[in-house]
Amino acid sequence: MAVSTITSFVGGMAGSWTILSCTAMAGQPIVNAKKLNIMTGEFDNNNCNWILKGFKSNLRYTTKQEEEILDLNPSILGKPENNFAALIPIKKSEEWWLLAQDERRKILEEKSHHIEIGSRYLSPISRSLYHSRDIGEEFDFLTWFEFSENHIEKFNELAELLRKTEEWKYVIREVDIRLRK
Ligand code: HEM
Repeated sequence: MAVSTITSFVGGMAGSWTILSCTAMAGQPIVNAKKLNIMTGEFDNNNCNWILKGFKSNLRYTTKQEEEILDLNPSILGKPENNFAALIPIKKSEEWWLLAQDERRKILEEKSHHIEIGSRYLSPISRSLYHSRDIGEEFDFLTWFEFSENHIEKFNELAELLRKTEEWKYVIREVDIRLRK
């Protein structure tokens, strides 16, 4: 994979995002850091607390109809009013990865309504999904969300709804990192 396609989330002493909290929701925590820097490319730095790497990829589960709904509200990152963010790295169990594609889709959407629930929050919340499993990272996904101060509660509500779903029974590690620009 071309190094330039990798995004590195670097937790340390420098970066435009200040880390407000870092909560292990499932499994092992990660060490706290003061700032987050988001870098394009692979980045190795001994002066930081951690580096989480991922890359953007094609959609796996979304139907054409769902894609059209998502496209009505494209996620724009970096909006000046969205000065709060959440970085949520997630690892799913071996049991999840042993399932066939159609079984995973059934759990993600038909049983858990992840896309349907998420679509209701698209206008206040901008998002980006990075895949990490295929590059041998400790998490499978890095999820990134930006929203305004007025929508922090809305984001909390969304995260709480998803965490109650059947899909989340397969989440073995999750860290909820909250940030402010
Ligand atoms: C803004 C609301 C959200 C929307 C519209 C949304 C939408 C989606 C969609 C469409 C996918 C499937 C991508 C594909 O087809 O491959 C997906 C995957 C995923 N989302 Fe969300 N989501 C939202 C919020 C969240 C939140 C709050 C979290 C974490 C707490 C989250 C975690 C994930 C993860 C880990 C995946 C990858 C699942 C897998 O491939 O096994 N999402 N999301």
